[in-house]
Amino acid sequence: MCGIVGYIGNREAGPILVQGLRRLEYRGYDSAGVAVIDNELTRVRAVGKIDNLAEKLKDFNLNGKAGIAHTRWATHGGVTEANAHPHISCDGKLVLVHNGIIENYREIRDRLKDEHKFDSETDSEVLVHLIEDHYNKLESVDDDSRLRKAVETALSHVRGTYGLVAMHSDHSDCLVTARLGSPIVVGVGDSEYYIASDATPMLAYTKKVVFLEDGELAQISKSGFETFNLKDEQIVKCVEEIEWDDEQAQKQGHPHFMIKEIFDQPTVFEDAIRGRYDIQEGTAHLGGLNMTEEEMHKVDRIVLIACGTASYAAMVGKYAFERLAGIPTEVDVASEFRYRDPIINEKTLVFAISQSGETADTLAALREAKRKGAFVRGIVNTVGSTIARETDGGTYIHAGPELAVASTKAYTNMVAIMLLYALQFGRSKRLSLATGQRLLHAMREIPEKMNKIFELNNDIKKLAEKYKNYKDFLFLGRGINFPVALEGSHKLKEISYIHSEAYPAGEMKHGVNALLAEDFPVFALMTKNQLYEKMRSNIEEVRARKTPILLVANIGDEKARELAEDVIYIPPTMELLEPLLNTIPLQLFAYHVAVLLGRDVDRPRNLAKSVTVE
Ligand code: G6P
Repeated sequence: MCGIVGYIGNREAGPILVQGLRRLEYRGYDSAGVAVIDNELTRVRAVGKIDNLAEKLKDFNLNGKAGIAHTRWATHGGVTEANAHPHISCDGKLVLVHNGIIENYREIRDRLKDEHKFDSETDSEVLVHLIEDHYNKLESVDDDSRLRKAVETALSHVRGTYGLVAMHSDHSDCLVTARLGSPIVVGVGDSEYYIASDATPMLAYTKKVVFLEDGELAQISKSGFETFNLKDEQIVKCVEEIEWDDEQAQKQGHPHFMIKEIFDQPTVFEDAIRGRYDIQEGTAHLGGLNMTEEEMHKVDRIVLIACGTASYAAMVGKYAFERLAGIPTEVDVASEFRYRDPIINEKTLVFAISQSGETADTLAALREAKRKGAFVRGIVNTVGSTIARETDGGTYIHAGPELAVASTKAYTNMVAIMLLYALQFGRSKRLSLATGQRLLHAMREIPEKMNKIFELNNDIKKLAEKYKNYKDFLFLGRGINFPVALEGSHKLKEISYIHSEAYPAGEMKHGVNALLAEDFPVFALMTKNQLYEKMRSNIEEVRARKTPILLVANIGDEKARELAEDVIYIPPTMELLEPLLNTIPLQLFAYHVAVLLGRDVDRPRNLAKSVTVE
């Protein structure tokens, strides 16, 4: 989320920065901006894609040889020019671009507000004022280290994550960059240096790079760079040679966006829940719900409307809302909802769930729900999208730009946000503090457990090799694992073009058993939840028909091995959270099958990322 670029050298910085931003546009495209130092500082910002900024820059004469730039994926603060980076200090001399989240920004802002003027709603802007504050106190330092020292001191007061670059018009041969939780790469050229969130923007100029680690900072001039820790102790860094080509680098070294996005899940899951829950109170605080306690208690039905993968996430949400909040919940595929005269009234809470925020059917359905007087809220990834704008509140899922057509990380984060909403409703009604706290503790363990599943990537690839030539698949699950089976089946068919179906395993005997045969593999989810025993007997029935079986089971479940030749063992979690983990092996399986079959994984035939027509 958000892309940063910096340049210092003997060439004009402007075009290099804009070109760099274009390479990072996948990281966000809500707004963009550049600042360049010539004799004085020039800053230009524009809402929307880089093209808008480039167009605006035609009216400026940017001759400076040092500059910084940013492309934004809005988190704190809407999509406006005032919220676009670079942010500037009160004296107009210090500029800064930032990627990450400053968790204690309110505290810092309150502390500084009497002496500093804030122009934006962003968390990032506090950094520039905080650095300015420390810079002013360092009058005795009269060389470029003054800026570095000011950044170091300021960062020691900050809680959160950052990748940043700062520049000051009194130090025209100096950029200061620092990293904690958000990547910073320094490109080493011939009397010139590049800084960026990843190596893509500098690939055209150099392949020599230095990767800053968390807690490190660099002071860079056109003749050299020095690296420090936050205690101002100098450290030595190795210059590394990178081998990426341009195309790959856009995917951060992954061959496809889809696999990159699958691997993004632990990080973006953390982004989704950060600052939105309270362990002490065992509850969530999603301010975007925008409802009084009284209105919340009035809600007697929840309707979740969505399409595609978002609708499978919604099916998981149904379990959460019913179990945690005790509110009857329905899931409606948006294209059906709008034509069936649904029973919606002013006691109904409707969530429109969408990655793009632009899906035409979901949009039409939410308009219909609004017309009928329901509370309508959004659960959306794309900041400023139509669904986000047309709902009367809601929550961004913070999954970052999702570029592969097959949705992966957006699904996970939709589930995460619905769990938090269900918790918030539950705690305002009947749910105990202990259950709320238990759920939140278990949620915090999810990223680590996701990483454990990624260790199985090669094993799953081998399974994909073994199963890739089957023509049909059946995905089975029960309870909370049924929507997971639906999503696993959906993933496989949309990117590999293999026919597959998903069924609630208990329903098999009413028809689907007739299909079981040696050439019809069953991919079943048999994790240790309340339906485990029932699921096991269903798998026994499948096994009796000599059907090849792949199982997802929990680590330590030796019984699973007796039922199936191929078992993917994953960490256990609370039942309601299982979809956050159980879906991942299915995403990886679909991905590897599609790659092995030579499919266009990121751009499957006949599909589009954002379906803006009915
Ligand atoms: C398309 C995409 C799917 C997505 C669905 C809903 O079909 O290919 O990946 O799940 O639209 O999109 P939305 O943006 O509303 O989540």
